[in-house]
Amino acid sequence: MAVDTPSTRPEAGPFGQIRIAPSVLSADFGVLAEQVGEVATAADWLHVDVMDGHFVPNVTIGPPVVASLRRHSPLFFDCHLMMTDPGQYLEAFAKAGADGCTVHVEVGGTTELIAQMRQLGLRVGLALNPATPFEAVAPFLHLIDMVLCMTVVPGFGGQSFMPEVMDKVAQVRQAITDGGLNVDVEVDGGIDVRTAPEAARAGANVFVAGSAVFGRDRPWEAADAIRSVINATLG
Ligand code: DX5
Ligand code: ZN
Repeated sequence: MAVDTPSTRPEAGPFGQIRIAPSVLSADFGVLAEQVGEVATAADWLHVDVMDGHFVPNVTIGPPVVASLRRHSPLFFDCHLMMTDPGQYLEAFAKAGADGCTVHVEVGGTTELIAQMRQLGLRVGLALNPATPFEAVAPFLHLIDMVLCMTVVPGFGGQSFMPEVMDKVAQVRQAITDGGLNVDVEVDGGIDVRTAPEAARAGANVFVAGSAVFGRDRPWEAADAIRSVINATLG
């Protein structure tokens, strides 16, 4: 499949590196490019939450918005596809300028989706809902670049972090270490200066934060504060 994707993509960065990924879900969509610009230097990635009204009850944005944002931001676009049928849209997201796409393991067809993402030149992520066990992602660990452990039930920003997911984060990190694999571990939902250290200790290295960044008056300072507490925790 020949796809007209950008010839140079933003760098994802080395595996395992601490990364802060503000989620646009909590930004003001009326001035989205401005909001994204406010975190340009404080963020490593931009987390783009795509919701289809079926896999989750909410509806957000699709490829046209990603394409618009692409013209305004050089950040790595980490697109989280909360969709029942992501395969139907992966090519459109790649063409729009997505750099990485993460699909949910709960929707099935995972082997085919991974192959499709690779073919499109996307960085490959697999997400697990809080109730989905580690075993669901284990067979795919050697094929992917990132595991996203949801720390809330997906669908909405501003929910409370679920500490019970930390055992799974630790299991995922252990399996990656044991296998000598290059895979990032992302956490998403309720991440702020209070919860990020706990997730970092469990083994997460990519931290999505929506309301704790864009819900603040100075989003760049909020993102920096999360990075600081993580660095302080890990020493
Ligand atoms: C939730 C989304 C998250 C959301 C996180 O379904 O996947 O990325 O934006 O928002 P906060 O950080 O407010 O929990
Ligand atoms: Zn997300």
